[in-house]
Amino acid sequence: MTNEQKLELLQSKKAEALLGGGEKRIQSQHKKGKLTARERVELLMDPGTFEEIGMLVTHRSSDFGLENEVYLGDGVVTGYGKVDGRLVYVFSQDFTVFGGSLSETHAEKICKIMDLAMKTGAPVIGLNDSGGARIQEGVVSLGGYADIFLRNVQSSGVIPQISAIMGPCAGGAVYSPAMTDFTMMVDQTSYMFVTGPNVVKTVTHEEVTSEELGGSKTHASKSGVTHFTATNEVACIQMIRNLLSYMPQNCEDDAPVYPYESKESEIREKLASLIPANPNQPYDMRDVIENIVDDTSFMEVHKDFAENIVVGFARLAGRSIGIVANQPAYLAGVLDINSSRKAARFTRFCDAFNIPLLVLVDVPGFLPGTDQEWNGIIVNGAKLLFALSEATVPKVTVITRKAYGGAYDVMNSKHIGADLNFAWPTAEIAVMGPKGAAEIIFKNEIAKAEDREAKLQEKVDEYTVTFANPYRAAARGFVDEVIDPKDTRLKLIRGFKMLENKVASMPKKKHGNIPL
Ligand code: HXC
Repeated sequence: MTNEQKLELLQSKKAEALLGGGEKRIQSQHKKGKLTARERVELLMDPGTFEEIGMLVTHRSSDFGLENEVYLGDGVVTGYGKVDGRLVYVFSQDFTVFGGSLSETHAEKICKIMDLAMKTGAPVIGLNDSGGARIQEGVVSLGGYADIFLRNVQSSGVIPQISAIMGPCAGGAVYSPAMTDFTMMVDQTSYMFVTGPNVVKTVTHEEVTSEELGGSKTHASKSGVTHFTATNEVACIQMIRNLLSYMPQNCEDDAPVYPYESKESEIREKLASLIPANPNQPYDMRDVIENIVDDTSFMEVHKDFAENIVVGFARLAGRSIGIVANQPAYLAGVLDINSSRKAARFTRFCDAFNIPLLVLVDVPGFLPGTDQEWNGIIVNGAKLLFALSEATVPKVTVITRKAYGGAYDVMNSKHIGADLNFAWPTAEIAVMGPKGAAEIIFKNEIAKAEDREAKLQEKVDEYTVTFANPYRAAARGFVDEVIDPKDTRLKLIRGFKMLENKVASMPKKKHGNIPL
């Protein structure tokens, strides 16, 4: 063979690999409104930066006639490239090859880039489109999944891991995303389930569509399995790029700082008018957030799940922060099982990756009732308490209105390690709301009164004046400063800047035992 012929052989192999499972299957993928594995990678990476690894890998299976069905690359495109000039690794499953199912070699390719990512300290992005374990390979495929799972766990808290679900993902294909930091789904074309509708029907006799069982809306609002939903694949990939902009490359690194020049005053007059006169009237905490952070920088996480708490990333004077905020506009901002789980997980991500935390508080307490108690509000609420207590990143709190009961302690109080605690003049910091408190502590006095209603109101007013304000807490130093709401942004910029070089650590241990 001449050198020219050798080069031609290489080129023809590459051309074959680029076709994946063939033209017909590519067309069928496009007809479903889906991109191919390679098209997705091209969209993800900065133009011209993607380098592929393992393009010529093939499976080693010979059962069920597989020796006659061999595709170069074996159903997954793996490699590295740049996003906004920063190194990232990617694996992108190719549904045109055995439905993107995971074979022994497909798993080896993913493990190879996961190992490189750990060695070089850079994020791993998984673009998932897979029918799960390659059925023809049996336990070898299951072993491949477990090899990935182990690496997901070892990488957790060391490098960011992001999963996009871009097709039907079943079986093992959903457990790896579940162990990564963030999951995104594409509306209408992606599904996640441990077992599909047919198996569900056989086992539980339930009739359910793929969309109902494991579509994006289900996982965004009911299960909370997905953190983000995109209207189409292009939007989904753009979302991955945006999400990466808030995080560092690894746990030893800091998030990128974006150029920020204050062109106008940092005073935000609007903040002074957001809290309604009636303390029982709702308002949208997102309005508070939008008026504190840099313009258009707020990226909400888990938007449609447990809406009584808002979490997400933003930038303050160009620097990344994570925000955890009660949402009075939904269930009065009460803490319940799902909101505690949601906020705890987000807090732990921020802490693992050196992203300072801002906690905005307007919380009437924990949600009472049998449903919450029987499903474990105690251990679930404790997750948030645990997560905020163990976080060692800079932690700043602003109490906008209510901070009642145990929820006061939980929501980044001074006592559990917050570095700076601010309160607005509208803050009410006490064991409970004035009416509940008056009914308990003045029970006898009210019962004996001629006009009970008037007596109750008198006692409510007395309690309000005494406790429904920020000054008792400020007198103790539990609140560092009661601030004019319009100064909040300025105070936070200065406060986080002051905390920039904070060094704190937990006692040496193997790991804590968060109440899971
Ligand atoms: C091998 C598979 C496959 C699989 C799909 N294909 N899934 N090949 N192993 N797991 C192949 C099909 O044979 C077909 O090949 C092509 O991929 C496209 O599949 P279709 O069924 O035609 O596509 P569609 O109608 O879109 O349905 C997609 C699907 C469905 C929902 C993913 O294929 C499906 O239900 N597959 C099985 C899912 C599953 O039960 N997986 C195992 C889970 S157990 P051709 O040649 O026609 O293109 C598991 C254990 C791990 O993963 C547990 C770890 C904790």
